Amino acid sequence: MDNNKRPETMARIVSMEQANSFIDEQVTEIQNQVKDKKVLLALSGGVDSSVVAALLIKAIGKRLVCVHVNHGLLRKGEPEQVVEVFRNQLDANLVYVDATERFLNKLEGITDPEKKRKIIGAEFIRVFEEEAKKQSGIEFLAQGTIYPDIIESDGVKAHHNVGGLPKDLQFSLVEPLKFLYKDEVRIVGKALGLPDGMVYRQPFPGPGLGVRCLGAITRDRLEAVRESDAILREEFAKNGLEGKVWQYFTVVPDFRSVGVKEGSRTYAYPVIIRAVNTVDAMTATVENIPFELLQHITKRITNEVEGINRVLYDLTPKPCGTIEFE
Ligand code: XMP
Repeated sequence: MDNNKRPETMARIVSMEQANSFIDEQVTEIQNQVKDKKVLLALSGGVDSSVVAALLIKAIGKRLVCVHVNHGLLRKGEPEQVVEVFRNQLDANLVYVDATERFLNKLEGITDPEKKRKIIGAEFIRVFEEEAKKQSGIEFLAQGTIYPDIIESDGVKAHHNVGGLPKDLQFSLVEPLKFLYKDEVRIVGKALGLPDGMVYRQPFPGPGLGVRCLGAITRDRLEAVRESDAILREEFAKNGLEGKVWQYFTVVPDFRSVGVKEGSRTYAYPVIIRAVNTVDAMTATVENIPFELLQHITKRITNEVEGINRVLYDLTPKPCGTIEFE
């Protein structure tokens, strides 16, 4: 039997009842596989790794060691949510590593998007490995691989997490979601009691805000991306667009323009808003955001975000633009 092929007999999970029986089966399977050993998981806070974490906590409790690496490129409130949900609510064995300085120092002056990605991926593996080495008795590595990852990338979870697998860590894999589609993972996450904000969140690239702070990352522009993104998300949620628009975010380029504020000349950066809809991320159309809402968001961003004096809306579909800017 092909180990990477979804069994034909497996029904699609569409209800909480089905999700609960999937959870029961997986809990037993994980307990049989892991026995009394420990499992390590890189917990990004994304849908897949969060659902894997919740499932393993149910199966083996504190023998799951979750490592959350904050690379400094996460959205506002994300690391705090991971700590709140997993450490405080689910009582997980969570190692939180704030590696912001390491990542930002490594990225200093790097302008090429692919180089930025490589540095973020490589540094992520390094930090994760260092944490793994501090743990004893780990024999397994859990991964949030889902079925589309297997179909799209020949079994290697390539595009999905920041750096892929650490190569020199000799662990057996635990991949309880590997035959699930994304919608099924979300139902399982709901059934496991994870908050909606975690289960239904929009896609977020592994290199995070690093590819939305264009060119060489600077701390001031990175903060502007984070703050403007938080305003955009808040306004989309308030105006019924959360869950309706597939992906939406802000970008801060590395050029400035002249503006005026309270009678004085400014020379500051713009924020670019992008909001797109797609089925498979291969092509995408631009969301038709009500003009009044765009004006309101513009006012908030220019008033509330330090170092920003203009807001632009990207009207480019994919193709010819990609969804991200880098
Ligand atoms: P593009 O920009 O290629 O994006 O049209 C398509 C989808 O992929 C996401 N994306 C990434 N995800 N690592 C990721 O994990 C990456 O390096 C990366 N680059 C793009 C993007 O957010 C969109 O959902």
